[in-house]
Parts: sequence; C-alpha cells; structure tokens
Amino acid sequence: MDGDYECLVLHKHPQLIDQCCDLINSEWPRSHMARRNLECSCDNLPTCLVLVQRNNVVPRVVGHGKISRIPSIEHGAFIESVVIDKNMRGKGLGRILMRHTENYMKSIGLKEAYLSTYDQQGFYSRLGYEFCERVSIYGSAITFPPLVINQQVAKEDNHKTFMGIQISPINTNAPPPPPLPPSLHISKVPNFSSNNVPHTNIANGQPKKDFMKKTLT
Ligand code: ACO
Repeated sequence: MDGDYECLVLHKHPQLIDQCCDLINSEWPRSHMARRNLECSCDNLPTCLVLVQRNNVVPRVVGHGKISRIPSIEHGAFIESVVIDKNMRGKGLGRILMRHTENYMKSIGLKEAYLSTYDQQGFYSRLGYEFCERVSIYGSAITFPPLVINQQVAKEDNHKTFMGIQISPINTNAPPPPPLPPSLHISKVPNFSSNNVPHTNIANGQPKKDFMKKTLT
C-alpha cells in the first residue's frame, strides 16, 4: 500500500499544481485563493506536500497538506489544508500523508506539529495529536502584505508583485477584517469523551475550531 504512493514537494513539481488545485477545490470551493496559496510553496515555508499515486504516467494527486510557519514558536509549524481525494478516503492515505508531512517537518529541524480542525479531531487523535492551547500563524516576526482579497478585485489586471509573488490591491470597499487572534491565547480546552474526542464542537451556536499538537519524535 505505502509503496504505491509517494509524497512530493509541490514547488519542485509545478506540473501538479492544476491537479492539486482541483483536489482542494473539490473540498473547499474557492479556486482563486487555492491556486495562489499553492504557488507560494517554497523550501523556507510555507511548503505544500502532495501525495501521489506512483503507477501512472502522470502522477495522480490524491492528497495535499501545507506546512506554515508559526512566528511565535521557533521549532513548531502549523499543518493546514489537509485533504484526501473523496474517492480514496478511509483507506489509510490520510495517515500516510500525515506521516510524510511529519517526517518532512523533522527533516527541516521542526520539533512540534500544530493544527486546527472543526470536525476531524477523531482522525488526528488516532495519529497521536492532543488538544492544546490556541496558536496563531500571525505574529510580529514576519509581516506579509494581506493576500486575502475580494475575488472581483483579484480579477483586475493591476496586480503587483512582492518577493516574486503576485498580489492584488486590497478592496477598500470590503468590511474591515476581524481582529487577529492573540498569539498563544489560552482557550478553553474541550471536554473529552472516553475515546479522547470532544462531545460537541459548537460554541455559542457556531462551529468551534480546536487546536491540536504533536511532538515529533
Ligand atoms: N473520526 C475518527 N477517526 C477517523 C476519522 C474521523 N473523522 N477519519 C479517519 N479516522 C481514522 C481511521 O479510522 C483510521 O484509523 P485506524 O488506522 O487507526 O484504523 C485513521 O483515522 C486514518 O484514517 P485514513 O483512512 O488514513 O484517513 P483518510 O484517508 O480518510 O483521511 C481526512 C482523513 C484527511 C480527514 C479525509 O477524511 C479528508 O480529506 N477529509 C476532508 C477534508 C478535511 O476535513 N481535512 C482536515 C482539515 S483540518 C486540517 O487541515 C488541519
């Protein structure tokens, strides 16, 4: 099973960006930002990893995960946008993708993996993740211009570049963004049921994100 799949660093295989974009959009439809995020992948984080099926002339992308820096935690990084092809779930591929992702993180000197999830606490618990305090991928160590933009504005041609990345002007008609979460804000750790999964993940009628952590050994 394991031998049928390999994990590739996306920016070293840019021909896979289209497939990867389709995979992400099949789960979270927002094509514009997905492509933009994928094209930001680099050796120095953020780094996108793709799980591909080997036995095809053109590798078939079946999974994706992104590793991002956490400015306030030197030896930790944040795993996000983990997704396995809808037709391939429940076959152990998520576990394989996460193992490759964690190994990659260790290979670049990282010691802790963090993530957040609304509804996959069970999956991550199976892989050894435990609930933790909230962490923020925003911080003062490095400040990028905002890339979250109005899609209509993004279609305009007056794009600029920053560090080689195409960016678009901020839509000044858009409502102001919510305040950034405070770094390392101590949130309420959820109640655990006997199988280490919270009973419910709703707070004030809204879906609530849990933060989870694993020490990479
Ligand atoms: N609840 C409890 N256990 C689970 C769940 C779940 N929702 N999903 C999988 N598992 C268990 C499996 O039973 C298996 O257990 P075992 O090996 O001990 O028997 C183990 O976790 C591994 O399961 P896989 O088959 O490897 O998982 P899969 O390939 O289905 O991938 C994934 C899981 C990535 C969550 C997939 O369902 C998916 O793409 N979901 C939609 C996108 C998504 O929600 N991604 C997570 C967003 S959060 C983030 O990115 C940090």
